[in-house]
Amino acid sequence: MMTYHIVTYGCQMNVHESEKIAGILKTKGYEREGTLEEADIIVFNTCCIRENAENHAFGNLGALKKLKREKKDLIIAVGGCMAQEAGKAEILRKKFPFVDLVFGTHNLSELGDLIDRRRARRKAIVSLKEERAETEDGIEPVRTSYPNAWVNITYGCNNFCSYCIVPYVRGRERSRRAEDVLGEVRSLIGQGFREITLLGQNVNSYNSDGQGGMSFPELLDAVASVEGQFRVRFMTSHPKDFSEELARVMKKHDKICKLLHLPAQSGSNRILELMNRRYTREKYLSEIELLRSYIPGCPVTTDLIVGFPTETEEDFEETLSLVREAGFASAFTFVYSPRTGTKAAGMEGQIPEEVSKARIMRLVEQVNENTRALSATFVGKTTEILCEDFDEKKGLYLGRNEAGRMGYFASEQNRIGEFVTLKVERANGVSLFGEPVS
Ligand code: SAH
Ligand code: SF4
Ligand code: F3S
Repeated sequence: MMTYHIVTYGCQMNVHESEKIAGILKTKGYEREGTLEEADIIVFNTCCIRENAENHAFGNLGALKKLKREKKDLIIAVGGCMAQEAGKAEILRKKFPFVDLVFGTHNLSELGDLIDRRRARRKAIVSLKEERAETEDGIEPVRTSYPNAWVNITYGCNNFCSYCIVPYVRGRERSRRAEDVLGEVRSLIGQGFREITLLGQNVNSYNSDGQGGMSFPELLDAVASVEGQFRVRFMTSHPKDFSEELARVMKKHDKICKLLHLPAQSGSNRILELMNRRYTREKYLSEIELLRSYIPGCPVTTDLIVGFPTETEEDFEETLSLVREAGFASAFTFVYSPRTGTKAAGMEGQIPEEVSKARIMRLVEQVNENTRALSATFVGKTTEILCEDFDEKKGLYLGRNEAGRMGYFASEQNRIGEFVTLKVERANGVSLFGEPVS
């Protein structure tokens, strides 16, 4: 029996793309996922959002040389955002001549044919496409995140935030037709999935190309109106396109998780402008206020970058104070990483690494304080989680509540895929521990 092994780097979008890659591999006779050592094909689905994401993949690729030497028929393929990056395919080929296939983000659906071609002749293949127009790839993914299922609503990004490489490696924003999204959601619910996560770099600008047929709040409304017992999440929202309509729809449906992931990036207006984010700190805070006028205390999570070119101590302190003022439930924090080809990489005033490192430590400290404070509010109360896994080390089942808090509990029966109400006894960071009462 032939097996495959996929190594995924980067965001949820990439995680879902790996599920599609697995779907393609199945049609090519690779029947199941195996370990790295036993696999007949290894696919690296890469990310290039920050330098360390690239270094990570480079490091792990190097280690495959030995496997390839021992196993002549092994196929090694590299795809994803880093493969799509200008000039990277040549660098990959030079550094790792044993790689058999390089493919980009725009020709995922050709992967099956590329594998056939590689099997037919023993020459390495590099196949990249500048842009992808279609939004339906006809690939049946092998889903790996039950009870959650990822559903693309848009591909690509038009925003060109000055630090970000995504628009260069994922192309222009394209919206899937609402009826296709809804068809997929209905089918997933029919198959027993209990959580749907709608995916896009900027879900709020869904239908900016007119191809969706309705706005994002309308689509969300329609998804949450599908019959069945499930909940809905979505990411990522861009603050420049947040609307009152979205808050209204979130409030309207019990099925929509009361949580908004709204990346702020910085608390300083001067830096936000240099980042080309097209909102101010004040506008950002007023959006959270508007959201919370519909959904009192609605948790908001965010992404923050420190050490953007020219960032001063004062700018940074505005980011720190934003964390307090917005009361973020949690945050992903990043040190700015210059990406070749982006506007910010050419800016004067790049910040020394030791300054950025000191800042991110202070930021993480502030975020942790928020995290602890919010987790503590659940202690002594009940919260509903969707059980998603069993933690072997802890010997406990786990799942998330709608605010994204991880809840752990002991159970004799397998509860994966069930909604479980937990009486929370204690909290540790983002984790809650308790007793199931239903
Ligand atoms: N489309 C989403 C997120 C894309 S990438 C959005 O707009 O919010 C996820 C996060 O990576 C970003 O929110 C940003 O915080 C971070 N990021 C992107 N480019 C980066 C860079 N060059 N250096 C450091 N962090 C970066
Ligand atoms: Fe990157 Fe900005 Fe697009 Fe997000 S919205 S993917 S940060 S360019
Ligand atoms: Fe995602 Fe990384 Fe690409 S964050 S879109 S996999 S560059």
